[in-house]
Amino acid sequence: MYAMKRVCSPFKSELTFRLTTATSRAWKDGFFWKTRVPSGSKVSCTPGSIRAVISSDDKALEPSSKEASNKEVDETVLSSSSDKLGKGGIDVRAVITIRKKIKEKINDKIEDQWEYFVNGIGKGILIQLVSEEIDPETNSGKSVQASVRGWLPKPSNNEHIIEYAADFTVPFDFGNPGAVLVANLHGKEFYLMEIVVHGFDAGPIFFPANTWIHSSKDNPDSRIIFRNQAYLPSRTPPGIKDLRREDLLSLRGNGKGERKPHDRIYDYALYNDLGNPDKDDELARPVLGGEKWPYPRRCRTGRPPTKKDPKCETRIEKPHPVYVPRDETFEEIKRNTFSTGRLKALLHNLIPAIAATLSSSDIPFTCFSEIDKLYNDGFILKTEELSEIVQNPFLGNFMKRVLSVSESVSTLSLPPSFLRGFSMLSFFFSPCLCYICLGDRFAWLRDSEFARQTLAGVNPVNIEILKAIEEKRLFILDYHDMLLPFIEKMNSLPGRKAYASRTVFFYDQTSILRPIVIELSLPPSPSSPCNKHVYIHGHDATAHWIWKLAKAHVCSNDAGVHQLVNHWLRTHACMETYLIATHRQLSAMHPIYKLLHPHTRYTLEINALARQSLINGGGIIEACFSPGKYAMEISSAAYKNMWRFDMEALPADLVRRGMAVEDPSMPCGVRLVIEDYPYASDGLLIWSAIKEYVESYVDHFYSEPNSVTSDSELQAWWNEIKNKGHFDKRSEPWWPKLDTKEDLSGILTTMIWIASGQHAAINFGQYPFGGYVPSRPTLMRKLIPLENEHDHEKFIRNPQHTFLSSLPTQLQATKIMAAQDTLSTHSPDEEYLGQVSHLHSHWINDHEIVELFNRFSARLEEIEGIINLRNKDARLKNRSGAGVPPYELLVPTSGPGVTGRGIPNSISI
Ligand SMILES: [Fe+2]
Repeated sequence: MYAMKRVCSPFKSELTFRLTTATSRAWKDGFFWKTRVPSGSKVSCTPGSIRAVISSDDKALEPSSKEASNKEVDETVLSSSSDKLGKGGIDVRAVITIRKKIKEKINDKIEDQWEYFVNGIGKGILIQLVSEEIDPETNSGKSVQASVRGWLPKPSNNEHIIEYAADFTVPFDFGNPGAVLVANLHGKEFYLMEIVVHGFDAGPIFFPANTWIHSSKDNPDSRIIFRNQAYLPSRTPPGIKDLRREDLLSLRGNGKGERKPHDRIYDYALYNDLGNPDKDDELARPVLGGEKWPYPRRCRTGRPPTKKDPKCETRIEKPHPVYVPRDETFEEIKRNTFSTGRLKALLHNLIPAIAATLSSSDIPFTCFSEIDKLYNDGFILKTEELSEIVQNPFLGNFMKRVLSVSESVSTLSLPPSFLRGFSMLSFFFSPCLCYICLGDRFAWLRDSEFARQTLAGVNPVNIEILKAIEEKRLFILDYHDMLLPFIEKMNSLPGRKAYASRTVFFYDQTSILRPIVIELSLPPSPSSPCNKHVYIHGHDATAHWIWKLAKAHVCSNDAGVHQLVNHWLRTHACMETYLIATHRQLSAMHPIYKLLHPHTRYTLEINALARQSLINGGGIIEACFSPGKYAMEISSAAYKNMWRFDMEALPADLVRRGMAVEDPSMPCGVRLVIEDYPYASDGLLIWSAIKEYVESYVDHFYSEPNSVTSDSELQAWWNEIKNKGHFDKRSEPWWPKLDTKEDLSGILTTMIWIASGQHAAINFGQYPFGGYVPSRPTLMRKLIPLENEHDHEKFIRNPQHTFLSSLPTQLQATKIMAAQDTLSTHSPDEEYLGQVSHLHSHWINDHEIVELFNRFSARLEEIEGIINLRNKDARLKNRSGAGVPPYELLVPTSGPGVTGRGIPNSISI
């Protein structure tokens, strides 16, 4: 089967193997490799053939850096046009950049040596260059030239980056290459960063990849990598049209079977993986998605059904990973960085350790100083839990310090008997990061602070105007209708007591918002058909404490809605559906794919992790929030009753809540009713920057009439979002149309806002605002004592005890503090809005688009300056003043850690 011949090369002497098969598959090393060479292909290969070349001496290719290597290829190897002309055409060179594992085991190193050898003899990785042009002789569709060469390693200055070279001879009329096909004949996958082809007159041609190339043993299909040129479907060069379609088909899969880790198939599934009925009947949870519990769809994994409930999917328990398409998994660099590593460490090690330590003492706090100690001195774990945690680098950095027993006793004022069986290790949270513990220790007690957080806290998206009142001075935080249907079920859970709350605020002449009345409702009963209690701020001692308890109940409602509706449903879950549709329907060369791609990074994996350990039956959310096992049912009900895509646009949401009125003279077309509304005023700046960028981007690609309606991929994408991702809402009349470029810009601006600004505003304040438990309890354990009740006497005697014993227990508080701290953390490799990772520096080959992006970045820098100035403006009392923290959640940039600022491009935590 092998035909061998020598060919001339300007580089080095080479030996060519020719593999010939009658079909489009080559039998190689005991398995089939699909070459994708179409019938009618010409060049030196016969149809279905591969030419493999061994380079006997490529040692000259040893630049000191990647840049230097490209330069060398440009300037020395390919500098002379006469040198470029091989016997069969132009000699070009592809430089292939591959990233190795950062942490290599001995086995990996041995395998690396083997791969080095295998690549060297041309049997490791095979690639084909595919032209954008049709072959005029065959006129049979795309024109493809296939040429596979031996590769030799090219060291760079980064020990984890390896460059290889592959040499091709292409005919003079080859045209621009539009795609590279890669087949990995090794036994294991490798990470391909990019391919740069040198030697064409147009200069280097970039094929950005940043993708895992599966082993041919796992999947015989070769991978298609397109060049960095954006094309609408109708403008796809004929030579790569079929590849465009073929690539999308492979990403969609056939909807069958269980996904394997190497797969990169994006498909939809119901939320049927939250429960674990096989483990415990108590852990059975309803399937979300469908008529009863509508919900957005998640990424399909295809795991088998549970034994007890065929409608539910079996779970993969930690530490085993849930399937996400291969390129959606955290990169090693991300896995090894703080936030993600810490999140996993938190879920897998620390939370169980906390639970084990506190399970026998899951008791309420008995005085405020105990809560303070949790911040200041940390938390002592049992000895047997230690070894794993001490060895965990993330937790090591997180909140550990070693105390001697005597130190522990003195620092924590604990009796030595308490320490028996406990370790000398203390975990401490970072008090400096919880704003409540900063300059104003008692801010949380003030009504004005309670109100201020509805405009500038972690959940600034539920306050609305009381529409019945003409003068715009009364506002309401209304959780009545959303929560009342669940209150009876919630209150049947041990240690949970909740109301459905309504809080009315008055916006006074001095621009201060104050709560004036709280209504707490329980479901009507025969004895109490109107089971409501109304509280106002009284001045006597009893009324003062009751008011404080009422506010705490409102906060627990607010914390639940924030987490389950505004955070999980409206950002994480909804982005997952847009992301799946984007991969299934938009080719990697589609301009809208290129626009959205940075806003999808890591979302699928963080969501999979959350379904595994946060929002699952028995997970942290159920354990620490009032709704307990009914948490996701509330999320589903909110999706059913209030979620609308068109209202996810910031201006529309503000108008819907009456917090803004339409005003065409304003930049975003709306004017805020409360000017000092930090989330909204900063948010509108970010929103308008995104909108301006998106509109100019869309304008650039959709300049012709009907170009939006005739874009088949785009229309399929939008149809799929409506009809598959949001199947349960598919018939709603409010879905925006996608007929014009204005429609498209609106849809894209909303999606990018949700992934970036909206998620940042909702996510990164969790610890700064929620870390101090009395200020924002995530659950309440007791109802407010009524005068005729037994508990009332106790309350009169010791109101502080009643208050503290109504809050989360020590175990619950410690868990939620640890989770909120981690979820508020930026990773060091975070990519912020307006920034492009160096990995994606060749994302698009279009100077005008790069210029538009640079303008967007510059505008975000300006916005950062504007926000900083606003935070210093003494007139804006919701973001400046004695002890008032500046509102920085929508400041675009941040350093790593819990900073309370920074807008990442995507939802990655
Ligand atoms: Fe988040």
